[in-house]
Amino acid sequence: MTQTTKKPILGSFLTVILTLLATYALVKWGIPALSREITSLPFPLPVPGTLMFFYMTLTIVALFLIVTFSEEGLADFLRPVKKFLRGGYGSIPRAFILTLIPAVIGWQVYEITVPKVEVPSSLRIQHPSSNFPKSFEAKRNPFASPTEAEVDAFIEQAKANEIEFIPQVQEDIEHWAEEIDPEHVLEFFPLAPMRKLLAQIQADNVDKATAKAALLEKNLFEGRALYAMNCRACHGDSVAGDGPMADGFKLRPINFTDNGTIETIVEGYTFWRVTNGGPGLPTEATPWDSAMPEWKLSLTEEQRWRIIMAEYDLAQKTPRIPEGH
Ligand code: HEC
Repeated sequence: MTQTTKKPILGSFLTVILTLLATYALVKWGIPALSREITSLPFPLPVPGTLMFFYMTLTIVALFLIVTFSEEGLADFLRPVKKFLRGGYGSIPRAFILTLIPAVIGWQVYEITVPKVEVPSSLRIQHPSSNFPKSFEAKRNPFASPTEAEVDAFIEQAKANEIEFIPQVQEDIEHWAEEIDPEHVLEFFPLAPMRKLLAQIQADNVDKATAKAALLEKNLFEGRALYAMNCRACHGDSVAGDGPMADGFKLRPINFTDNGTIETIVEGYTFWRVTNGGPGLPTEATPWDSAMPEWKLSLTEEQRWRIIMAEYDLAQKTPRIPEGH
């Protein structure tokens, strides 16, 4: 074997070790530091673990090829290893390293397999109860259960053909009336309870159950209109969480027609969620932040309740009954 000037100054074993350490350092700290320079963000962009794996694998493959390229190269690489194993660097360092290797591997295996007590970070608390004010729990939707007085008032309005609608739908109904010139505004609704009520008004024999069913249909109609105006873009036509904007969110709106969503919560909680939106959620609700707007800022309490009634109806679900009811 001849001594040539091409040999690494440090010997090939040490060069291999230093190259591996340098590659690791470059990916672990170099790239994030560079990303910070380029993006001028106040924090470095982390390097994904898979990228580190690729870089290290490629480096090891390249070093393996270089070292085994010639017999001399391999012999050069192995010389310090053999010398070490024969005790050429002293028997105490050898005993120390040979104990250290299995100890480190054992410790790593232990770290991987030992059961952890921490909460998996992927769990998100969808329905945090910690800051859900108890006063909301007993709240009932006034539009889903109209009082007798409200039904009576509705009968009077229907008889006089002066049913009051919310302004958001009033205009549409007026346009329709101009074109059709109906005898009664209830003709607008192609629904059984409305038809029945209309027939009863014409026969002057209105019964309360029919009037109540018609009033519920009217409330639902208004709720659906408000839903379409405010919620549809994210939650979708059929409350399945597939509105045109839904794909834009890291935390998608959930599918309300699934079992285990709005069906499992009491109306008061739904009301509270709609009222306070994503900003109302406590820190347990992270790491994903909800895009759900804080509706108390733009919808009245009445509007929110109407929408919630329509939301449950569209999903064909009923809210959970609060305990003790
Ligand atoms: C900008 C998009 C967006 C709009 C508009 C929006 N939401 Fe949401 N909403 C979300 C997202 C995203 C979630 C899921 C994350 C979460 O739980 O906050 C959500 C969650 C909800 C939940 C919680 C369900 C649960 O199980 O806790 C309710 C109820 C809800 N929305 C109702 C409404 C209503 C009613 C409207 C209209 C007044 C509305 N949303 C408008 C994005 C939106």
